[in-house]
Amino acid sequence: MPKILVKRILDEPELYIIRVDDDQIRYFEAMWSIPEGITYNSYLMKLGDEVVLFDTVKREYAEMFIEELKRLIDLEEITRIVVHHTEPDHSGALPQVLKENNYRAQVIGTTFAKNLLEGFYGKDVIKNFKVVKDGEEMKIGDRTFRFITVPWLHWPDTMITYVVEDKLIFSCDAGGGYSIPEDIDDERDEVVQRYLPYVTKYVVTVIGHYYKYIVQNIKKLKRLGIIDSAKMILPGHGLIWRKDPKRIFEHYEKIGAGIPEKDKVLVIYDSMYGFVEERMRIVIDELRKLGKKVSVYKFTDKENPSVADILGEVPTAEALIIGASTFEADIHPRIRYTLFEILDKANYEKPVLIVGAFGWGGVAGRKIETMISRSKFDHVATVESRGKPSKEDEENLRKAVKMLFS
Ligand code: FEO
Repeated sequence: MPKILVKRILDEPELYIIRVDDDQIRYFEAMWSIPEGITYNSYLMKLGDEVVLFDTVKREYAEMFIEELKRLIDLEEITRIVVHHTEPDHSGALPQVLKENNYRAQVIGTTFAKNLLEGFYGKDVIKNFKVVKDGEEMKIGDRTFRFITVPWLHWPDTMITYVVEDKLIFSCDAGGGYSIPEDIDDERDEVVQRYLPYVTKYVVTVIGHYYKYIVQNIKKLKRLGIIDSAKMILPGHGLIWRKDPKRIFEHYEKIGAGIPEKDKVLVIYDSMYGFVEERMRIVIDELRKLGKKVSVYKFTDKENPSVADILGEVPTAEALIIGASTFEADIHPRIRYTLFEILDKANYEKPVLIVGAFGWGGVAGRKIETMISRSKFDHVATVESRGKPSKEDEENLRKAVKMLFS
């Protein structure tokens, strides 16, 4: 059952998190398998006569969200609603909140956000809309809100809010991750350690396509000096960062740079009838002899791993080994799709070995080579042959594995 968690985060200013723990979702964006779930974080700040709501939650949780909001405030008292990003996992409950608010609140966001909100929910939600520009400041109560655009983190509409006096960053998607952490913040290191791999998976699957903007926007925030001095980073998903606020953006930077874990090798393959698998057993045996830690994902007649999980493993891999069958004169469709997503969202300068097996004609290896040669990955070798691997194939495979690390 989805849960809603409400906690007071600060006394001065009075600040609450309203967090929906979505354990019902299976495929984020109807695509990325997340059995670990996700949270949608909204925040409410009371500043005397001003009451500011930062984002909302997904539409299907609007009723429970509003019920909890009503325990904190009469909805008509909300004076401002900051929309950092209009994707419906954050804006879905906005129309109902505004209705209950009798449309008294000023809605604040970028021009892009205004247009998208109108497209999604109609004219009512934008009738009291205040467009803000990059760097614009607004006095709300006795606080200064600075709005900073971070385009493509995750859509062109996206901005963050920096509360100047308190050094708070409301960052929406940026700084977020999948899963439902047992705590609301980064106080306990074991919670953070469990959470960070889900951050990596989230960043690659959701924002990976806009990789260069991750790097650019973090640079921008650093240049503005707000990351180094931040007291708290409050994302729209996952943990709040207050013990070590910089840590989450350092982790994002590591993902952007593809910093590998020592000796980690990612092995991905399909095997329809075991011929690719026989080759991969040799490959994995050689990797273990070399002291490598092997992460294996295989598509077979019994297994269909999550492409989202595979994507989440790429940034920390030292090297990749891709095994594929030739299928209808092409790459096996499962590997073709996986590779397409890797090259689109997790395109790094890392060495790649290609392993192929075929019946009457080998095509997969060559096609994968072409895809790899157009990417940032470094093609090291292709070992592809017919049917059962021969003694010579085994020697070639072992030699090729060694070449990956020479
Ligand atoms: Fe969490 Fe791009 O929405």
